[in-house]
Amino acid sequence: MTMPLQDTVALVTGASSGIGAATARRLAAEGATVALVARRRDRLKELAKAIGQDSGQALVLAADVTSAEEASAAVEAAVAELGRLDTLVNSAGVMLLGPALDTPIAEWEQMVDVNVRGVLNVTHAALPHLVRAAEDSPRRVADLVTISSTAGRVARPASSVYNLTKFGVTAFSEALRQELLAKRVRVSVVEPGTVDTELTTHLREEIRAAAQRQTESIQPLRPEDIADAVAWIVTRDRRVAVNEILVRASEQTWLATVPPTPPVGRRRGKRYRDPSTSAIG
Ligand SMILES: NC(=O)c1ccc[n+]([C@@H]2O[C@H](COP(=O)([O-])OP(=O)(O)OC[C@H]3O[C@@H](n4cnc5c(N)ncnc54)[C@H](OP(=O)(O)O)[C@@H]3O)[C@@H](O)[C@H]2O)c1
Repeated sequence: MTMPLQDTVALVTGASSGIGAATARRLAAEGATVALVARRRDRLKELAKAIGQDSGQALVLAADVTSAEEASAAVEAAVAELGRLDTLVNSAGVMLLGPALDTPIAEWEQMVDVNVRGVLNVTHAALPHLVRAAEDSPRRVADLVTISSTAGRVARPASSVYNLTKFGVTAFSEALRQELLAKRVRVSVVEPGTVDTELTTHLREEIRAAAQRQTESIQPLRPEDIADAVAWIVTRDRRVAVNEILVRASEQTWLATVPPTPPVGRRRGKRYRDPSTSAIG
């Protein structure tokens, strides 16, 4: 039986864990050969092995997407080794939440570097190959999918720079969508709500504890739920362009990715919250 993505090549960033790993696995199951990009080579190798055991094909390309040189080298290596590039999924990202007054500038810089500069570096290198794939593939279409967030739709306290990066990639994607539609390179964003991944493990301890408190009463999404959305987008016929998908956990009432602020402080021994966050959860 022909699989929907047979004879195509997909490159997935952030493939060493979470949404990127699940998406790479899912695209391989749909028949794509997948190029796996992230910094942790050992994790990529494990995933490539698992994909191979499922009769799929994967290429490991360890790279730091914040480096234009490494991002470009990874894209070129994928095309050199696998012959083409039909699908790019930008999933690499970091979320370092916290009130602006307390946040080290290095955390802001890291979010801009990975979530924005990383997306730009990989996308810039991939675009000519995606245009070529849309011209010469039997499907006559190529796809560029970026994992944004509910935080790309609504800004919240203690999420300012994460919001900036996710609003940014959504705007970037919409402009590219309009530029590239005549070339049949479809451009999409997927906006997950709370997904059970390693994303919150990088938060400072007190922020992580607050995030955990506010999410512990809901059942989070699984990375595979987001992989489903990506697979839906990239397996449509060329006449269909699914440009945006928002996927939240069923019990999630707020829009931000995780509830953004820890209790603001203590007053006479009692914890209190900033009223601006009281609608969350
Ligand atoms: N989890 C959620 O609730 C949620 C909600 C909305 C949106 N998102 C978005 O979903 C995307 C994936 O996050 P996740 O939840 O799957 O988190 P995750 O499990 O922490 O995965 C993040 C991935 O990004 C990669 N990465 C980080 N810095 C990198 C760099 N400099 N170069 C290359 N790769 C880098 C990591 O790999 P290495 O460390 O090996 O490099 C890892 O594979 C992110 O863009 C995130 O903002 C997540």
